Amino acid sequence: MLRSIILAAARSARMEKLVATAPISRNIVSRYVAGTATEDALRVSRELVDNGLKVSLDYLGEDTFNTRQAEATRDEYLRLLSSLQADGLTPATEVSVKLSALGQRFDEEMSFRLVDEICSAAEAAGTAVTVDMEDHSVTDITLDAIHQLREKYPSTGAVLQSYLRRTEADCRELSGKGSRVRLCKGAYAEPESVAYQNRLDIDRSYVRCVNALMRGDGYPMLATHDPRLIEIGIDRATWFDRGPHSFEFQMLYGIRPEEQLRLAQDGYQVRVYVPYGDEWYGYLMRRLAERPANVAFFARSLRGK
Ligand code: FDA
Repeated sequence: MLRSIILAAARSARMEKLVATAPISRNIVSRYVAGTATEDALRVSRELVDNGLKVSLDYLGEDTFNTRQAEATRDEYLRLLSSLQADGLTPATEVSVKLSALGQRFDEEMSFRLVDEICSAAEAAGTAVTVDMEDHSVTDITLDAIHQLREKYPSTGAVLQSYLRRTEADCRELSGKGSRVRLCKGAYAEPESVAYQNRLDIDRSYVRCVNALMRGDGYPMLATHDPRLIEIGIDRATWFDRGPHSFEFQMLYGIRPEEQLRLAQDGYQVRVYVPYGDEWYGYLMRRLAERPANVAFFARSLRGK
């Protein structure tokens, strides 16, 4: 219930204005977001890479409805990629891109052209792009775009969400040689017709998807903070005879940082998803929805306490 309310607030312009203008404690945002500038992204990436972790940088923004903003997002990714290369942070650091930030919702063709340019720059910088997955209304067009991108840039990554009923089949389809698939539970409010609603069903689906990806010949990227699913991932890797370099774990910046380091020290590859930029509102609200216990903490900071 609380989760649905927070996810609805994530899409509310009025709520966004209220939160953005409140004396919100910088600590809340900085717990989950690297900062607002390219330099913040580079600094945090350096710290993580020096600690043996890999990184995926996300320039925050979604639901862009004008061309200028979509092109500005593309420009920031191009600037970021050339700085990452200049600073020796590739290939350990890749980028994550949301097609809606490139205008997918109002000009699909343009969003494809812009993401193609970002993939090309990533390849030139010695790294890759993973295309984030958004709500179910864009699953098909996003997977189609990735399919086309992979013909030119084979290491382009896809994201699949275990809460969607279709995802086990998508995992089987995308488990072939060369594919990179990030498997997560899914962060949007979705209707029962397309998505499992309770945690147990979502977790069970996640395990079936792990099996499909680990059994295949691709490169699974298990994006979860869930201790049980991480253990299952390790178990399935052994079962399907995979070495620690044939898959990776992924977690979000600021969530279970000790566990990120522990897994890396145990010899697993761990990639931290690091968002940066001014458009932190939607991202932050989804993180709160995942863990309503954080809401009280957040509410206190809104009141300046
Ligand atoms: P779950 O939410 O059940 O949490 C399991 C445990 O993790 C909790 O019990 C707690 O210990 C800890 N935890 C989780 N969230 C926390 C928080 N906010 N604060 C503190 N502790 C917390 N989604 C999507 O729809 N499209 C996408 O493209 C992506 N991309 C993506 C990339 C990466 C690298 C990650 C890790 C996640 C995503 N997601 C995503 C988000 C994903 O779908 C999901 O919402 C979150 O990862 C939370 O799900 P968990 O699997 O962590 O389990």
